[in-house]
Amino acid sequence: MYGNTDRPLNLLILGGTRFLGRAVVEAALADGHQVTLFNRGRTNPGLFPRVRTVIGDRTEDLAGLADGRWDAVVDVAGYEPRVVARSVDALHGRVGRYVFVSSLSVLADQSTPQDEDGEVLRLRADLPAHQVYGARKAACEQLVLDAFERQATIVRPGMIVGPHDPTDRFAYWPRRFARGGRILLPGDPADAAQFIDVRDLADWILGCVRSGLGGVYNTTGRSMPFGAFFEACHAVTRAVAEPVWIPSDRLLAAGLDPWMGVPMWIADPACAAINRVDVSRALAAGLALRPLARTLADTLAWDTARGGPAAGTEGLAVQEEQRLLSELAG
Ligand SMILES: NC(=O)c1ccc[n+]([C@@H]2O[C@H](COP(=O)([O-])OP(=O)(O)OC[C@H]3O[C@@H](n4cnc5c(N)ncnc54)[C@H](OP(=O)(O)O)[C@@H]3O)[C@@H](O)[C@H]2O)c1
Repeated sequence: MYGNTDRPLNLLILGGTRFLGRAVVEAALADGHQVTLFNRGRTNPGLFPRVRTVIGDRTEDLAGLADGRWDAVVDVAGYEPRVVARSVDALHGRVGRYVFVSSLSVLADQSTPQDEDGEVLRLRADLPAHQVYGARKAACEQLVLDAFERQATIVRPGMIVGPHDPTDRFAYWPRRFARGGRILLPGDPADAAQFIDVRDLADWILGCVRSGLGGVYNTTGRSMPFGAFFEACHAVTRAVAEPVWIPSDRLLAAGLDPWMGVPMWIADPACAAINRVDVSRALAAGLALRPLARTLADTLAWDTARGGPAAGTEGLAVQEEQRLLSELAG
């Protein structure tokens, strides 16, 4: 049940049907592992018809998991310490590893580059609303670490991208470049972008289980200049495009939200290093990152096949982009 193994694994996935969990399940099935899902049966029901799904609401009822043993549980979508404590208690002694998907939002200081030893947020009554998610994730991490010690793996992704992303933060860009014309690019080409392809993250999570890798890991891609990211978008789509950079101060003066008022643009000084996270520990532990062109092409193909995002959920509406361009372009 523990240690490095090449044999098929018996995995329990808490969640598994939306984005990252879905990719973990797909990768696990492709590798020949046996998978049990636990979820409420609401998100994409029937997605994995040949996989055993135990139906339950983890916030109040884990009765469906009262029996069984697994090589590992991958807890993809735990947000509340009270809820994660419930699954930690229920599964202790019956899983060989507890993989908890946390977030880089746990880091207390996002203004300077951090590694895994950076201080994490603590839950307290006067915490600003935007830090509550990270503080809760940090408390969940600690619960898992306390209970499972060396059998705990804490995965801290930054922005996760790729097919089936329910947000339009990343898919917006290849779609926008494919449309061509005058394109609003936010900030400065030297600003940083950082993200991970959901399938690379899923593969690495499975690798952790296979090799018995415990500990805490920042798991995002390599930091890159925004300018290089947009060049890659252009190269993949090859549409005739006229990029127009609008500096952050002008976008802020126009009233845009500094947190992704334009997809992937972050202009909050408190988050100046959010896209400069040190991922050397995960890279040394086998995190493999596919070429950006692959991620962009696959995301665009998925986005095109679904007919783009639902109306009103696009990262930046066409009319709004053109209004900003006509008002702000020099
Ligand atoms: N997206 C990002 O950029 C990003 C960045 C950093 C960290 N993260 C972390 O990555 C994870 C992403 O999660 P995901 O949504 O992609 O995971 P997922 O496992 O693909 O989807 C969420 C799953 O949770 C299940 N679920 C929701 N509420 C439940 C409940 N009360 N009881 C039982 N099951 C429940 C859903 O199914 P039902 O609705 O059918 O129950 C669904 O299967 C999260 O932990 C997030 O904090 C994401």
